Amino acid sequence: MDSGTAYGRAAGSYRKELTEVGAGTPMGELLRRYWHPIGLTSSLNGNPAKVKILGEELIAFRDGQGKPGLVRPRCAHRGASLYYGKVEERGIRCCYHGWLWDVQGHCLEQPCEERGGTNLERVRQPWYPVAERYGLVFAYLGPPAKKPVLPRYDCLEELAAGEFIEADDSSIGGGGPALIPCNWLQHWENVVDPFHVPVLHGSFSGAQFVAQMGAMPKVKFDTTPRGVKVESLRAAEGGKLHRRVTEVVMPTLRVVPNPRVAKYGRVESIGWVLPIDDTSFRIYVAGRVTEKGELGRFRSKMAGKSWSELSEEEHRRYPGDYEAQTSQGPITLHSEEHLSGSDGGVARLRRFLEAQLKIVAAGGDPACVAFNEADAYVRLEACQMLMDATAAA
Ligand code: FES
Ligand SMILES: [Fe+2]
Repeated sequence: MDSGTAYGRAAGSYRKELTEVGAGTPMGELLRRYWHPIGLTSSLNGNPAKVKILGEELIAFRDGQGKPGLVRPRCAHRGASLYYGKVEERGIRCCYHGWLWDVQGHCLEQPCEERGGTNLERVRQPWYPVAERYGLVFAYLGPPAKKPVLPRYDCLEELAAGEFIEADDSSIGGGGPALIPCNWLQHWENVVDPFHVPVLHGSFSGAQFVAQMGAMPKVKFDTTPRGVKVESLRAAEGGKLHRRVTEVVMPTLRVVPNPRVAKYGRVESIGWVLPIDDTSFRIYVAGRVTEKGELGRFRSKMAGKSWSELSEEEHRRYPGDYEAQTSQGPITLHSEEHLSGSDGGVARLRRFLEAQLKIVAAGGDPACVAFNEADAYVRLEACQMLMDATAAA
């Protein structure tokens, strides 16, 4: 008799507590303990912009004094959307009756009311704190009493002569649209999955990175106070060893040395995986560069073409990160998986997240949250180097 056929198999399921990010869900509450990038500093201007983050639809704007703001779209007067508002010197004015709100939701004017409104302080437009750093606009959507300081990362703070920070908002490694239609964790787990590099990026679709990355690495997974770390060793020219360390760091940081250039040293950029909702995410990146536009030039080419230039048939023939990760489904079915030894990073990351969920549920503060500037400096281990084979033994 045939065994293992598809007939009669139960429908698969996914782990809600690890994937769903809405307010009130376990992961949604964990992620709401951190600052998340919501846009590029350069793209926030005097026009109200729709943004969605962690399942919440919001309006971002920059007032005439240069202050960034993030508010609920629904005007606290009678509900018209502030998307149709006008940004002024002191805030955003609703199109319907002209109530003026500042970046912290204070009502400054009610032009239809006598004397421009009396009891202005009785009404507040729901808002979120916003801060800017590294060319990115960050927002904090969590409980006010638990608002941490905005972290600083060594690789973006300690610059060599001629280096500066550039921010970018394009897509995942191999290319794709800005909005990736699958759960954010599928991409975050990919960062601690070094074995997909020689297969997906090294041979299956041709060499998408430098040829060296095509060799099967010797890998060590570790849990750190910040998340999970992966060390990959490969034989390199001249009897040397190529050592590459990548990290995932709370809340959603992807800390990966560029695989396309044989540049050695500490990691040069950080990517933030921003969950838009349960079934889509996008990426923001900040990195040290010496030339404007350098971050964007790191993209892979497949068959000499960028991702958006590929035909459907070419996507099938030269799949990259986008094809692999989105084809796992809107939210991958964990019940259908068979994790193996090479998935050690994925297993560690899930255990790490489970531990963070428990900490928050018990009223504690999760990893990488700091409340004093002095504790907000994060040192990362991610790097790429050539070393003597004997040094690694
Ligand atoms: S609904 Fe916004 S001012 Fe009336
Ligand atoms: Fe990849």
